[in-house]
Amino acid sequence: MHILVAGGAGYIGSVLVPMLLEEGHQLTVLDRLYFGDTLVAPKQAFANRLHVVRGDIRGHSGELFRGVDAVADLSGISNDPSCELEPELTRNVNVQGGKRLAVLAHEAGVRRYVYSSSCSVYGHGEGLGLTEESKRHPVSLYARAKVEVEDFVRELGAKSDGRFEPVALRLATVFGLSPRMRFDLAINVMTRNAYVNRRIMVDGGGKQWRPFVHVRDVARAFSMALTRDTKDVSGEVFNVGSDSNNVQILNLAFRVRDAIPGTEVVHAPTDPDLRDYNVTFDKIRRKLGYETTLSIDDGVREVLAALRDGRIDPDDRRWYTLKQYLFLREAERVVAEVGLEGRLLF
Ligand SMILES: NC(=O)c1ccc[n+]([C@@H]2O[C@H](COP(=O)([O-])OP(=O)(O)OC[C@H]3O[C@@H](n4cnc5c(N)ncnc54)[C@H](O)[C@@H]3O)[C@@H](O)[C@H]2O)c1
Repeated sequence: MHILVAGGAGYIGSVLVPMLLEEGHQLTVLDRLYFGDTLVAPKQAFANRLHVVRGDIRGHSGELFRGVDAVADLSGISNDPSCELEPELTRNVNVQGGKRLAVLAHEAGVRRYVYSSSCSVYGHGEGLGLTEESKRHPVSLYARAKVEVEDFVRELGAKSDGRFEPVALRLATVFGLSPRMRFDLAINVMTRNAYVNRRIMVDGGGKQWRPFVHVRDVARAFSMALTRDTKDVSGEVFNVGSDSNNVQILNLAFRVRDAIPGTEVVHAPTDPDLRDYNVTFDKIRRKLGYETTLSIDDGVREVLAALRDGRIDPDDRRWYTLKQYLFLREAERVVAEVGLEGRLLF
């Protein structure tokens, strides 16, 4: 299959892309490369089957979809604080850009379309074990954008007489190693802080529930959604994760602490976290036979080993989504102020 992955150089994308290449697919990646070129190794290993386009989901033409069978949309601004930075920009990218990508794919005759939504659409969840049918209560701009694009893409499918097959994957919070590391995700940042500072800060009280899933298990879910039969996935929404990886944040902190002796857990003086959701993953298990393979403890061990071996720099700005967006915003200001034809010193 020829698959286009928008946002394919990001945290999930840079794990998904090599996996799809290993499976034998031809890949096009569309990405701004805001966090660097994380696809150097797969470009070398699969030179004839991977084409990386440094471009924007808001600006590219429909030409990009020529011969494409399936699209995975992983692009956009990927956490709450980065979305709050410039709300107008967030709507532009995450909502208008997300819808535009789906419309162009649909017009170009792409059949399968997998959208990366989030369990954060449940927001302040009511009760334990939320299903795909539960009411959504998004409490952030980021999550409201997910709800809007999820619905838009589903309607596009419903109006297409079966020619366009959308699938929405509502991902649990992801953890584990990736070529574009993210130390702004709970398990990764707790592991990093325990290793570097021997201290884990717990925000929002710690009683809030959150489901988690390993990045390689997420990539497997995308692969299934992209390639499985129409009857299994078309028009469907799936929560992606496992019931046993629903954890209250304070308990998560204790688990990470236990992996790194001498670590203390400290409560940050913050307001209660409004995001509180405990989710069931029964549907994806029943319909697709999907089971996760990696536990929270596996993820902690893996990230810890990479920190100990020096394979990842815990202080690299690019691994902190908000810091990197702040840096890019500042860089843009400086270029506008003193740049000549886009150059600063030369
Ligand atoms: N990581 C998680 O825990 C998680 C959980 C639920 C949902 N998601 C969703 O999964 C998707 C991927 O998440 P991630 O963790 O890989 O995030 P990420 O920030 O690492 O990746 C996003 C990618 O999109 C690119 N991008 C941003 N704006 C773009 C634009 N205008 N045009 C083209 N490319 C653009 C970035 O350069 C980046 O490579 C996102 O939609 C995110 O909201 C992630």
